[in-house]
Amino acid sequence: MRVPPTKHRTADGRPFTIRCAARADAGKLLDHSRTLISAEPERHVTEREEFDWTVEAVTRFYEAAAAHEGSLGLVALEGDEIIGEASLRGSRRAKLRHVSELGVGVRADRRRCGVARALLGVLLDAARAAHGLRKVTLRVFADNAPAIALYESFGFVIEGCRKGQVRIGDEYVDDLLMALDVSHPSQP
Ligand SMILES: CC(C)(COP(=O)(O)OP(=O)(O)OC[C@H]1O[C@@H](n2cnc3c(N)ncnc32)[C@H](O)[C@@H]1OP(=O)(O)O)[C@@H](O)C(=O)NCCC(=O)NCCS
Repeated sequence: MRVPPTKHRTADGRPFTIRCAARADAGKLLDHSRTLISAEPERHVTEREEFDWTVEAVTRFYEAAAAHEGSLGLVALEGDEIIGEASLRGSRRAKLRHVSELGVGVRADRRRCGVARALLGVLLDAARAAHGLRKVTLRVFADNAPAIALYESFGFVIEGCRKGQVRIGDEYVDDLLMALDVSHPSQP
């Protein structure tokens, strides 16, 4: 799916734009993801050395997202710099077409100033408007307090917990499964 570009401001007054990711963003999106994984490997399933996305794969993902009713790829831009991204990944399978999986990441030096809140606002409004979409799901490590607080503030609830699913160093961390019902329009 696609959404029109929207203008926003961070809590400290910096203007930024949220729009659908385009083919020309692929290189910067790749750098953005690589930087997040390298800086905070404990937040991501993929290890730095395992990160094997290419510009072609990123381009394919965002082009497919634009053409699919349950998928959406967004970037948050300050000037032409990517400061955040968020995505919905829908399924082509008939039995799963009512569900999309959410992902979000904000550049470390632009956190705590409303970028993720703005991205999820746009993304979830689009999800609520999407024909046939009923549920947005996500997975989050149980020790990722900032992300869990963000999701709960949008009404996501914990549906399940995969105990000790992720090994981080010598620790086994639970993987939480969270979901939001998007089958009804949001209250004002
Ligand atoms: C989680 C993440 C996306 C939040 O992005 P952000 O732009 O800093 O979030 P916002 O400033 O929009 O904050 C929105 C809400 O999230 C919660 N939140 C964000 N950071 C928080 C923190 N460090 N501690 C507690 N709550 C936090 C709060 O509820 C906040 O609302 P408030 O400011 O009114 O209290 C960001 O920390 C990030 O990219 N982390 C690394 C990648 C990651 O963990 N992604 C999720 C994987 S499942």
